[in-house]
Amino acid sequence: MSIIQSVRLRSAAADATAAGRVGDDVALDLRSVQKTYDTPGRPQVEAIRHLDFSIRRGELVCVVGPSGAGKTTLLRSIAGLLDLTAGEVVLDGEVVAGPPQGMAVVFQEYGRSLFPWMTVRQNIELPLKEKGIAKAERHAKIDRALEEVGLTEAAEQHPWQLSGGMQQRVAIARAIAFEPSVLLMDEPFAAVDAQTRAELEDLVRKLWKDLGVTVLFVTHDIDEAVYLGERVIVLSNRPTVLMEDVRVDLPSERDQLTTRSDAHFGELRGHVYELIQRAKRGDRPDAPPAAASSPQEA
Ligand SMILES: Nc1ncnc2c1ncn2[C@@H]1O[C@H](COP(=O)(O)OP(=O)(O)OP(=O)(O)O)[C@@H](O)[C@H]1O
Ligand SMILES: [Mg+2]
Repeated sequence: MSIIQSVRLRSAAADATAAGRVGDDVALDLRSVQKTYDTPGRPQVEAIRHLDFSIRRGELVCVVGPSGAGKTTLLRSIAGLLDLTAGEVVLDGEVVAGPPQGMAVVFQEYGRSLFPWMTVRQNIELPLKEKGIAKAERHAKIDRALEEVGLTEAAEQHPWQLSGGMQQRVAIARAIAFEPSVLLMDEPFAAVDAQTRAELEDLVRKLWKDLGVTVLFVTHDIDEAVYLGERVIVLSNRPTVLMEDVRVDLPSERDQLTTRSDAHFGELRGHVYELIQRAKRGDRPDAPPAAASSPQEA
């Protein structure tokens, strides 16, 4: 196949993804998902009004939106940790009705997600034990995961003996040792310093490439979303709907210096920033016609 043909094919596949669902290629499919919280004695909270999108197998997709938009609700819905009000989440062709086997989640609060009385190795081992994996295989998976995140030396230490960035690496190692088909991450680097954050971002890109895993990464950081993602899903204010599904057509090889100083990176960042500003002002695609035809929209 000529180079031109292969480039054409790749862009056609990407366009098909942007346009909608692509059969067997779909890892995760959200179909008219709605979530309203019922809190006894208090008014209901409509978090997700309507979300309908899919993620291709092996894609790295970021989700951004204003604070309180419903990003964590979305992630927890996908992870099978919440009952949906309407709609369904489909993982590898199966409707999610509880935490699925093929999914792993990394949350922001690494301090709370690791057991302090267990070593790093034991923390990573726990879900593998629960999955019923034999000891020798468990150890091989743990060693591989630790090597992937650069923590081989810390295997016998306890989480409290490690820096915040290292603890988050342990949480990531635990997730990938499990060999999920989909990895969900909810603002995983919000609590670490800027330099560590940049290193962890590069780690996510590396793991994504090495392991071929599908990644959905929630962040409030626009730069991070554009730097990491192949697509950025921008959410409206609560009750959330899709503002825009932005395709990040930056080269696959990214690094903190070159990519972030690239003019096109700046354009994409500016575009997502503008969308978030509009979302914060309450501008949304499902607004009544009068608001949609205001001068700001034009
Ligand atoms: N368990 C719950 N019960 C009732 N309301 C909830 C619950 N969890 C979240 N909410 C409400 O749902 C809305 C969306 O919350 P969510 O945590 O999903 O937003 P978010 O986009 O993740 O916010 P942030 O950017 O601050 O992390 C908020 O108004 C929140 O108060
Ligand atoms: Mg959140």
